[in-house]
Amino acid sequence: MKALVLAGGTGSRLRPITHTSAKQLLPVANKPVLFYVLDSLAEAGITDIGIVVGDTADEIRAAVESGGYADRLDLTYIAQTAPLGLAHAVRIARDFLGDDDFVMYLGDNFIVGGITEQVEEFRADRPDARILLTRVPDPTAFGVAELDQDGRLVGLEEKPRKPKSDLALVGVYLFTPAVHEAVRAIEPSDRGELEITHAIQWLIDRNLDVRSATISGYWKDTGNVDDMLEVNRTVLETVEPMVAGDVDESTTIIGRVRIAPGAVVRRSRIVGPAVIGSGVEITGSYVGPFTSVSDGCRIEDSEIEYSIVLPGSSITGVRRVEASLIGRNVEVTPAPRAPAAHRLVLGDHSKVQISS
Ligand code: DAU
Repeated sequence: MKALVLAGGTGSRLRPITHTSAKQLLPVANKPVLFYVLDSLAEAGITDIGIVVGDTADEIRAAVESGGYADRLDLTYIAQTAPLGLAHAVRIARDFLGDDDFVMYLGDNFIVGGITEQVEEFRADRPDARILLTRVPDPTAFGVAELDQDGRLVGLEEKPRKPKSDLALVGVYLFTPAVHEAVRAIEPSDRGELEITHAIQWLIDRNLDVRSATISGYWKDTGNVDDMLEVNRTVLETVEPMVAGDVDESTTIIGRVRIAPGAVVRRSRIVGPAVIGSGVEITGSYVGPFTSVSDGCRIEDSEIEYSIVLPGSSITGVRRVEASLIGRNVEVTPAPRAPAAHRLVLGDHSKVQISS
């Protein structure tokens, strides 16, 4: 069995935080989402992997190589000249896929607990296709499935205005080679893309065996910061504690904390779960629970918790940063203090509280 990982797309669809970089590389607990995808494929015993890349090909390739995946997996990069749709990606990967069964895994999707069970069930039953569904509050941003009373899949719609259920299509699809005829048969959608959703509907319309499984523990980068902080929190709760950096004696470390080699921590308090990347400098600061500080950041004289800081950023003299997502190479400093005065005319026995 092979895998097709989709890591293409252009910058235009990305939210501001990732406008300069590939969204598949957004970190969760300091590890790019794409790495979790590759790890869960390897865990499911799939090592022959095609990665579809677009405008951000160089960045994706460099990250995958620096993560050491090229040594462990058999990787083939497949260039997509424009993001013409998920089914288009399957079309252009035809030579790589041959007549093998495959998992198609969208590189910006995150499934807590991996996909091993799903792959095993597919291998055992081998229906023509198997899709994964999850309940979401707003299905309009997803492909949406309709099931009959017996839970059998009857239809799929791509980003419907009036969804027929709250069951969203998760970005992991298991296919037999039957899908190739479907992706060749369909026409571009209203948004100009060859939709995999339509290809699967094509299979359903021809009475092929398309099954679905409903899962929980799913996350996708939709630009929602709260969701991202939440998935980061969930994953941080499972990291293995390790202090490999240089930590001085006047620093206190409490709980599940992972400090990468090359980090330097002085006169600080770090309360886990938290991860600190390599080359990070933390001085005279508090880093609280559910915080990920990426490589090369500097935190000085500051307090931060329940936040994600991307590489190369600095936070100096700021108390306190909370529930925040800070991009790459950002500088956070206190606003200069404007000279201020309070003119008071207070009666006898007054009590006044003034914030200063
Ligand atoms: O994430 C699940 C959703 O993914 C499903 O519910 C939808 O049915 C499915 O159409 C898809 O929706 P999106 O419109 O959100 O997909 P997006 O354009 O974000 O692309 C998903 C991944 O595939 C992303 O990592 C970029 C990559 N991609 C996308 C396109 C359109 C490619 O590599 N090539 C492409 O042509």
